[in-house]
Amino acid sequence: MLFDVAPKKAKKDMYNYSEEYLTLIKAIKDEKIIVVKGVRRIGKTSLIKVVYSELKMPKAYIDVRGISPSKVSEWNTVIFRCFKKMNETIDITKKVGKIIKGVEITGRLGFIGIGATFSIPRSEDIIEEIEELDEKLGKLGKKAVLFFDEVQITKKFGASNLFAFIYDNTSNITLVLTGSEVGILEEFAGYSSDSPLYGRAREEINMKRLSPSQSLEFLKLGFIESHVKVPDEELLDAVESLDGIIGWLTLYGHYRRKISHKKALTRVLKEAEKITHNEIKRFLKNKGPAKTRYLKILKALSKRPMSWGDVKRTLPKVTDARINNYLEQLIKYSFIEKVKKEYRLADPLIPQGLKLFTIRR
Ligand SMILES: Nc1ncnc2c1ncn2[C@@H]1O[C@H](COP(=O)(O)OP(=O)(O)O)[C@@H](O)[C@H]1O
Ligand SMILES: [Mg+2]
Repeated sequence: MLFDVAPKKAKKDMYNYSEEYLTLIKAIKDEKIIVVKGVRRIGKTSLIKVVYSELKMPKAYIDVRGISPSKVSEWNTVIFRCFKKMNETIDITKKVGKIIKGVEITGRLGFIGIGATFSIPRSEDIIEEIEELDEKLGKLGKKAVLFFDEVQITKKFGASNLFAFIYDNTSNITLVLTGSEVGILEEFAGYSSDSPLYGRAREEINMKRLSPSQSLEFLKLGFIESHVKVPDEELLDAVESLDGIIGWLTLYGHYRRKISHKKALTRVLKEAEKITHNEIKRFLKNKGPAKTRYLKILKALSKRPMSWGDVKRTLPKVTDARINNYLEQLIKYSFIEKVKKEYRLADPLIPQGLKLFTIRR
């Protein structure tokens, strides 16, 4: 179902993005690191889950959001268990025909099982498992793929060292890294020289918004599939409000199957209010007095895209260097984008989330 709100797992439920899909499949054969970039709700998880479900090779999918951000030990346990499980599922005595079940880690350590006692693995233990896996794969002439969703979160755990180790010391393990905080993901994945992954070759897949005509087509196909007739002007209104972000369009379609256009759109906006408010709140945590300035910039950009000079005029007392820094941070965390010389919101529904903040003058 195109309007199913869970991330898609089957190609038939995935609209568009077939070029990204083919690139990813090819890159998994040829590359060691693949970075899938794109703002929130653009379809990254869906893309990688669809590809993941089709792969007939040893594989793992790890949603990093399931790991407690303050706990390196939890990350180490996850990664250790992941490689250990992969090692357990690969039987080198059975060369052919064995269907390999993937290792999926999405909830908080749920896969370990309650009551199980594990001592916290040391890096040597992790490395041992990685080397064992690589050796096994070499003997079988196979490759393994590990998908890390929202991987930039692992920066706190020093995980890029681990990924650099895998890159440098294994021959048969491919990493697919995705994240919604595009600038942070880039830093993590070696675009900047302070990352341990710096200088490693990688394939990059950049997911973009749907164009207005694609958005319209997506809605039309979804409603045909759901046997619901919706007038064109309503579809156009939805496309205009939701601006090519497939996640919002899906949510609209999901509601519109049961309720009127107006109600469905209001419901999406209401939901977006909560979701984007939390995203912004998380970003503003620990930002101290700069919080108000970030909010002022976002509020100003909610009205229209702006040049640097326009942004500056909304904060006349703030130094140029600071303004540059704020804009850079907002870009890194994918709240805004710079298109040509203009800054604009990365998500059309960010203004919803902003409504819930009170800004001091
Ligand atoms: N290609 C697609 N076709 C149809 N629906 C999609 C597609 N990509 C994403 N969606 C829907 O959009 C929403 C957000 O998708 P998701 O893959 O979680 O995005 P991201 O990981 O980039 O935040 C989900 O409801 C998902 O079902
Ligand atoms: Mg995702």
